[in-house]
Amino acid sequence: MSSHDAIPAPGGEHASAGGGHYPAHTPKAPRVAGVEFIGTGSYLPEDKITNAGLERIMDTTDEWIVQRTGIRERRKADPAKHESAWTMASGALENALADARIPADQLDLIIVATVSSEMATPSVASRIANRLKAGKAAAFDLAAACSGWVYGLNVAHEMIRGGGITTAAVIGTEHLTQYMDYSTAGRGCAILFGDGAGAAVLRRAADPAKGAIAWSMHGDGTGWKDLYIPRRPDDLPEGTDPAAVKMGQMFMNGREVFKFAVGTFQSLIAETLDKAGVRAESVAHFVCHQSNVRILEAARERFGIPQDKLYVNIHRVGNTSAASVPICFDELRRAGRIHPGDKVMFLAFGAGLTWSSSLWQF
Ligand code: UT7
Repeated sequence: MSSHDAIPAPGGEHASAGGGHYPAHTPKAPRVAGVEFIGTGSYLPEDKITNAGLERIMDTTDEWIVQRTGIRERRKADPAKHESAWTMASGALENALADARIPADQLDLIIVATVSSEMATPSVASRIANRLKAGKAAAFDLAAACSGWVYGLNVAHEMIRGGGITTAAVIGTEHLTQYMDYSTAGRGCAILFGDGAGAAVLRRAADPAKGAIAWSMHGDGTGWKDLYIPRRPDDLPEGTDPAAVKMGQMFMNGREVFKFAVGTFQSLIAETLDKAGVRAESVAHFVCHQSNVRILEAARERFGIPQDKLYVNIHRVGNTSAASVPICFDELRRAGRIHPGDKVMFLAFGAGLTWSSSLWQF
């Protein structure tokens, strides 16, 4: 089926709400299709930064990191092996396409969520399209920090559901270790982040019940100064001492972001369940941004979510920002834990500030 074939609206293409017929000149009913995941993949660099390794280079301890974050190790891209945001994204998409058993030239759209691309232009998406021979697929990057992949998922979903395209790839990739200050001054932030990429391939499905049954995307720019990577002194929030922040390295007001994350995460779950008219017990998996295990635990307790329904891999990979949710989902899928009929909620929050959710019917 081409991307422009109409899928009949429920009740027939020309049926009105009252069951009658539209006059001949009335535009066709909007096309509403289902959407499904047909493949996922991820890429994690082999090199690891363990807590013991961090103890050797900064004033921290394994005990502090594990207690405050749940993290034991994170991955680090190695430029000597040509690992970077775009090459990791490319590896993740290759794996997702192999899983989907389709060639890259069937993609109509490639969205890459990242805040750590090598070049301002071209986009990571364009470089991937070239490397994987994705033909004339539309390609763009999206910068919404840790929420980026879930933002991209919602955008691709709506484009497929609306009938504009048939097949899309949504990738999250981050090479964040390049922005970490591993001196003691940056220890609150540097222990958190790791590198990696995750990808998913989505396709229009004949069953309109499949796809997102509720989603939300939010932002609050007043919080931008709680998490940023400045390039020039002019980028600093008013009144900041330039000596207190290093150019080109991530600054995070950990406590503020923590407070925002705990509250937002919980209200995001409540809002999404509400929109869908679904109870928390009906959700098979909550696939959440891995920012800090304490934030995940707080949400789990509040909604009474059993441990096996809230996937956690932060102890192995750390916080990989936009890559976090798709890596988790790929691991879950490959473990055979996603079944037809499942409801799965994707959730993320991060710099911007931004937050987003997507509740899917499989
Ligand atoms: O993914 C994007 C969104 N990001 C997040 O969701 C991250 C949210 N924030 C957090 O996860 C936490 O705030 C952190 C893990 C970053 C920090 O944990 P915290 O419990 O909020 O620590 P804190 O910043 O309040 O610092 C507590 C103490 C301080 O010492 P004093 O002032 O009490 O003596 C820090 O200097 O812990 C100290 N500290 C450390 N000690 C050992 C901060 N970082 C470290 C460290 N090792 N790495």
